[in-house]
Formats: sequence, structure tokens, C-alpha cells
Amino acid sequence: MKLATRDLLTVADLTPREFGGLVSRSITMKKRGAGRPLAGRTLAMIFEKPSTRTRASFEAGMHQLGGHAISLSSQETQLSRGESIEDTARTLSRYSDCIMARLYKHEHVERLAAASSVPVINGLTDSFHPCQTLADFMTIRERLGRMDGLKIAWLGDGNNVCSSLIQGAALAGSDVHVACPRSMRPDAGVVREASRSVRVRMTEDPAEAARGAHVVATDTHSSMHNKGVSRLSRLARYRVDARIMAGADPGAIFLHCLPATRGREVSADVIDGPQSAVWDEAENRLHTQKALLEALAGRPRAR
Ligand code: CP
Repeated sequence: MKLATRDLLTVADLTPREFGGLVSRSITMKKRGAGRPLAGRTLAMIFEKPSTRTRASFEAGMHQLGGHAISLSSQETQLSRGESIEDTARTLSRYSDCIMARLYKHEHVERLAAASSVPVINGLTDSFHPCQTLADFMTIRERLGRMDGLKIAWLGDGNNVCSSLIQGAALAGSDVHVACPRSMRPDAGVVREASRSVRVRMTEDPAEAARGAHVVATDTHSSMHNKGVSRLSRLARYRVDARIMAGADPGAIFLHCLPATRGREVSADVIDGPQSAVWDEAENRLHTQKALLEALAGRPRAR
């Protein structure tokens, strides 16, 4: 499918139609395969932070589409010795058809995209995780049959995954209820923008956010850019457990982008229980990124 945007830096780069179209294409690819539309194409991947799912699913996805992926830890590139993001982008653009980057600062992926002559995909920054949101909504559509008119509850840190989920919900037409400490609310600009099309509610009461929800989602309480014992103690009451799930809709699903710490942000009986969709969610990273790569890395070459 065609996307108006050249890059995917946030979910808000997509229109509601494109967002739904990518999810539909991902479901079709999962059922029927996709052929080899990226034969001869290369994806360059840069990782400043660790990754299991993002790295493996992008690499497997490129291979399955007939292409190839190069994975670069920032520590093993000249970025670690001070080469600029812009010069790195210009260089990788000469070897590849698309760049995926997992960086700390969101501003850095914006600079990478500005200097690149090939599409750039945000594989997670401190502010956003758009690829995760695509997989989350594919999972929601598979499990619940729709992506709109739902109540989605987020319990815990209003972090990068939460911000992207809110942006996705706005495109899909579902409401989001976030339960978190006041100091950990999601980005105010993201909430303001999403509130133009759906309801986005903030509360400090996890049971209130989850009440009647069709989707209950959370993330690790110890993120890659935000650690600390005091955070953990303030987030402890936002754990998703059987009591929280009992207050949600009877058909509710549980989502977690992983990695998870059982007993901290989620109890083992929930993440390993019948309402958990986390393994489909992890698998769907592969299918949604293949749809995204087909759309972005499969474009006619400019050079
Ligand atoms: N959810 C996610 O991005 O997983 P990784 O950090 O393992 O890539």
C-alpha cells in the first residue's frame, strides 16, 4: 500500500486510513504470505539501546520479503567516536533502501530522517514506539474483531509506548484511560492532539481506568531510559493482576510490549493466563513491520 509519509517517526505520521490499511495488510500477509517484494533491497538498523523483538522481527521480516538487514550497534559504529548523525544518515542512505533506528532522543531520529535520502523508521525513542503500536492494534483487531469504539486502559508509566498507543487509538477511534502517578503522565501534547478525536482520560486509580475496558495494557516499570527504586515503589499499585482484570470487560485482552517482569508490572497469572495476548502481540511485530517495510523500503529508488 502507498503511504503519504516517507518516514515513520510517530504514529501521527499516518492518516487513520493508512493506519487501518497497514493493519489490514499485516493480517493478509500473516495469512497468505507476501512474496519477495524487497528482493535486492537492504535495511540498515542502528541500535543505541538493547532489543530482542525489534531487531529479530525486522531482520526476519526483511529476509522473508526477499531483502537483507544490516544490524549496527551504535557502539560499533563511528557514532561512538563522534561522527555526526547527519553524516551517518548520508552514508547509510548510499548503501540501503531504508533505515530503522532505535535511539534515546527523539530529536536524534528526526535529525537522522532529515539528513537521510531513504525512508527512516523509528524503532523506539524515549518519546515514541510507533512499530509497537501497529502490532498492538493488529492484535486488538485479530482478538476483538475491531479497533474502534473500544475502551483501552493503560496502567503504569505514561511512557513512550503509552504515547504511541494514545496516538494509535486516536487514529483507530478508541478511547484511552491512563492510570499512573501524576508525575508520570504521558506527553501533554500527545494527549491534547488525541483528545480532538477520542476521549483520553487520566486517573491515579488503576481500577477505575480498567473498569469495563476491552484492552488492558502495561509496560515494564523499569524502562531503558528511566530506572530507579523510587519509581518502582510509586508504580507498584499500578500492577495488572487478577483483581484488575476482573473489573475489565469479560472479553478483555491483556497486552504488554515485553520484556516483562512477572510480579512487578503484571502478575504471572495474568500474563500467562487466558486473557493474555502477549505472544500474538510479539509475533505481530513481524507482520506489521513487513507491511511497513513493503510500503517504505519497496518504493522506487530516488537515485
Ligand atoms: N517491545 C520491544 O520493542 O521489544 P524489544 O525491546 O525486545 O525490541
